[in-house]
Amino acid sequence: MENEGATQVPNERPRPRWAREKVMPRINSRTLTTAAEDLRARALGKLPTVAAVPLMIVYRNVRWAAERRANVEFLRRPTRHATFSQRLALVLRTYLISCAVECAHRQEEVLPVIGKILSLGEEVAGCIVEAGSYKGGSAAKFSVAAALAKRKLVIFDSFQGIPQNEEEHQTSIFGEAVGFGGGFYRGGLAEVRANVARYGCLDACEFVKGWFEETMPRFAHPVAVAYLDVDLASSTRTCLRYLYPLLSRGGMLASQDGHLPLVLAVFDDNSFWRDELGEEKPAIEGYGTRKLISIVKQ
Ligand SMILES: C[S@@+](CC[C@H](N)C(=O)[O-])C[C@H]1O[C@@H](n2cnc3c(N)ncnc32)[C@H](O)[C@@H]1O
Repeated sequence: MENEGATQVPNERPRPRWAREKVMPRINSRTLTTAAEDLRARALGKLPTVAAVPLMIVYRNVRWAAERRANVEFLRRPTRHATFSQRLALVLRTYLISCAVECAHRQEEVLPVIGKILSLGEEVAGCIVEAGSYKGGSAAKFSVAAALAKRKLVIFDSFQGIPQNEEEHQTSIFGEAVGFGGGFYRGGLAEVRANVARYGCLDACEFVKGWFEETMPRFAHPVAVAYLDVDLASSTRTCLRYLYPLLSRGGMLASQDGHLPLVLAVFDDNSFWRDELGEEKPAIEGYGTRKLISIVKQ
């Protein structure tokens, strides 16, 4: 299900706002924390993976309560398709993937979705969809869960990064500066496929290459779980427009962009739900408080 032919955009990596605007940041506790995080990531990146994984597990679980809670909750809650030891192995594998592949998410933004995939009953028909894969780290993680649950994982991306856009995001609901230029978060199809083959389950995956606006209207399969990590409000709107009608009852649509006010505005737009999706706006868990927001279709 690969679709060539999306237009070229520059291979630009996300850079901090001060670097993009060439203005030195004010030195305060937040910029110091960001600098410390950057140093830590560079140091971890230089270690062999075998040493970096335990260090990452300890560091992140000591430092971030939300990550610790997500791991505990995931291990504690029984699932239909994975035993406790399989879930433990999966948690370790998520850290291995985070060490080996540059990822744009934290544990608490993927584990609840993996938990949902592993709990799907037969009554919730359909595949798993990821919209927005970057280097394939989250796709590799979801692919392992999809294989355990005997579902297909369909991965939509331009494989050229974020499209050119004029969205002014400014700050997240947590007060951090955010911005998404064209070409940010680029991961090529070959690179994503290689990462999924090495760290996940390639057999469970199908890749759909191209802009969502062009590829999604042609997709017509039932969806059990959809995961959107697309940064732009316009891309989120497209995903909702084409994927939500395909979502089975009892299925879940999650967005990892719940910290972005422009994305929240799309989810909150009553007329969008009524006029384009033909239903009232559903309940959105985590709205306005968390990065990962989700809807379970009733
Ligand atoms: C933040 S990255 C995804 C991060 C990844 N899920 C992870 O956790 O590592 C956003 C992705 O969305 C894709 N994207 C955003 N809007 C798109 C659009 N309209 N069409 C195709 N791809 C798009 C970009 O190419 C990029 O790979």
